[in-house]
Amino acid sequence: MRRFLIDTDTASDDAVALIMALRSPDVAVEALTIVAGNVPLDRCIQNALYTAELCGSSVPVYAGLARPLFRDLTTAEIVHGQDGLGDIGLDLTGRSAAEGHAVDVLVETICGSPGEVTLVTLGPLSNVGAALLRAPEMAEAVQHCYIMGGTGQLPGNITPAAEFNIYVDPEAARIVFESGMPITMVGWDVSWTCAFMGPEAEARIRAIGTPYSDFTCDIQATLTEFAEGMLGIAGFDLPDPLAMAVALDPSIAETDDRYVEVVSGDGPARGQTIVDHLGATRKAPNVSVVTHVPPEAFMDSLCATLR
Ligand code: RIB
Ligand code: CA
Repeated sequence: MRRFLIDTDTASDDAVALIMALRSPDVAVEALTIVAGNVPLDRCIQNALYTAELCGSSVPVYAGLARPLFRDLTTAEIVHGQDGLGDIGLDLTGRSAAEGHAVDVLVETICGSPGEVTLVTLGPLSNVGAALLRAPEMAEAVQHCYIMGGTGQLPGNITPAAEFNIYVDPEAARIVFESGMPITMVGWDVSWTCAFMGPEAEARIRAIGTPYSDFTCDIQATLTEFAEGMLGIAGFDLPDPLAMAVALDPSIAETDDRYVEVVSGDGPARGQTIVDHLGATRKAPNVSVVTHVPPEAFMDSLCATLR
């Protein structure tokens, strides 16, 4: 069994990624650590607990940072709905997180089993950045870190330069990318091109006919409206499930090892992941950047866990 820790700002795509991990037979999800992002922290916590309950899982869910390390929180209700799961009337109240703080859980779990725990991050990197500030040795101890974040190729999705997770807490992301942790970055560029669900793909998922497949489609209601309104296309993209599919089977991803620098601060490039594709900086690569995942391989990975 592979041991996973998942850090998430649980909303409509995160929840599908959680189902994939919780329902993969060869993965033991040790804990879900929650970070504010798509929606405020308490809603992310409730969404994670709801999703775990849907999967019949008692995985512990730990509250983490309610805002970025050094700046106010930016949320994305326009993309995921006020409740984060498409505002379709789910009962997302009354569930309780486990005792303890996410940052402590990240440090203790990873450093307690050097080389054994895979970390998958699906939200802003505030928790992981804080954990690395507290215990830099975590970078050595983690087996591998799969990050949904950044863009291998422009544009971004929240600004022309940046993807949401990195934009929300660029200072934390800079700490993570400079930490020496073994990182595979699944950017929004590949999500948009390799994990976009058009009408046929959605119909294929719905045809599975389980509570997991229905949930997967139903909670994308706001995201679908957003995509059609802002971008004029029918469907939704699944960045976090794509990152989870790569974490579950790295062989499906084509990657380039690149030096990547995160832009912190408040300028127009805030949160940009500057990927040195040509080696111009002469700096050693610190990230394995995913450049492509065959859409069929992603769909097979996703659908296998929804049956
Ligand atoms: O930019 C997409 C990422 O931001 C996804 O993880 C989505 O859930 C939001 O967190
Ligand atoms: Ca997310």
